[in-house]
Amino acid sequence: MIPNQWYAVLSSHQLKKGKVVGARRFGKDLVFFRNQAGEAGCVTSLCAHRGASLAKGCISHEHIRCPFHGIEYDPTGKCVFVPSDGKASTADYARFHLESYHLKELGGIIFAWYGEGEPDKEPDCFDVLLDPSYTCDHMNDAWKVHYSRVIENQLDVSHLAFVHKTTIGRGNKTLANGPKIVWLDDNTLQTSANNEVDEGQIPKPAEECEIRNTNLTFKFPNMWLNHVTDKIMIFAFFIPVDEENSIIALRFYNKITGMKWVDKVIAWFGSIANRIIERQDKRIVETQLPKKSSLHMQENLVSADMPIIQYRSKREQLIRVASGSSKQENQK
Ligand code: FES
Ligand SMILES: [Fe+2]
Repeated sequence: MIPNQWYAVLSSHQLKKGKVVGARRFGKDLVFFRNQAGEAGCVTSLCAHRGASLAKGCISHEHIRCPFHGIEYDPTGKCVFVPSDGKASTADYARFHLESYHLKELGGIIFAWYGEGEPDKEPDCFDVLLDPSYTCDHMNDAWKVHYSRVIENQLDVSHLAFVHKTTIGRGNKTLANGPKIVWLDDNTLQTSANNEVDEGQIPKPAEECEIRNTNLTFKFPNMWLNHVTDKIMIFAFFIPVDEENSIIALRFYNKITGMKWVDKVIAWFGSIANRIIERQDKRIVETQLPKKSSLHMQENLVSADMPIIQYRSKREQLIRVASGSSKQENQK
């Protein structure tokens, strides 16, 4: 994990008002809940009383209530009511305090702050998520690898002709020119496949390639956008479950006709296509070892892997910066 980042961790539509959802994130069993006012909270799922899971709990008085003995916690993890002690109790329940996560919602996505202290920035989000002229359909799939492997697969331009030879990689374009990589800002990397049929030519260097209209953009720490055309975009976020598991959340956005219900039908078919393609990737990526990538590991990378190298380098740099700042905090 890269500390001090907003991670996209759950689609808002999966957390309805008055509901509780247990989910594993960041290697911990967590519980997300939304009160009747629409506010979402996230705390660790084990009740501090006798260890029952709050995932089986419910919302009561705008708090999450444990299913076992009815103890209630607020969204900050503070224990606010112990029924067996009664409403008149003035006892100090500080020892019951649960770990909690700051949440923000943008574009129908719940972001959780993975870091120490208060967030010092807003989640970095793609414009399409906030643009009401687009209609989308959403799907999730669990992969048995660390989320870094799923991200790298989405930045990999040379697997298309092999993994997707029956779908988006048709045409036997095995030779990878470039690829060109542009940093749109400090947090955002863009690239595009510029592949050709191999007729014995030398691949063009990145400087002679361009970012095409169909391109890939990645925002740290875990969001990606495939700009297919101005009216069709495929968006993904890569949910960190634990060291060996992740969830890919894929959305097909479009505004092809501008009529909401027609675009919804198109998005629904888009999700079917997304699932077929994502399953082609998953079949192979789940075989990769180790299950988590890092900058210095025993792989032999080639020119076509440059987007992956840049992802790893930036990730390492962000981790270094975050661990440096937490050391400074500790020394204060
Ligand atoms: S275990 Fe949760 S209230 Fe007792
Ligand atoms: Fe793929």
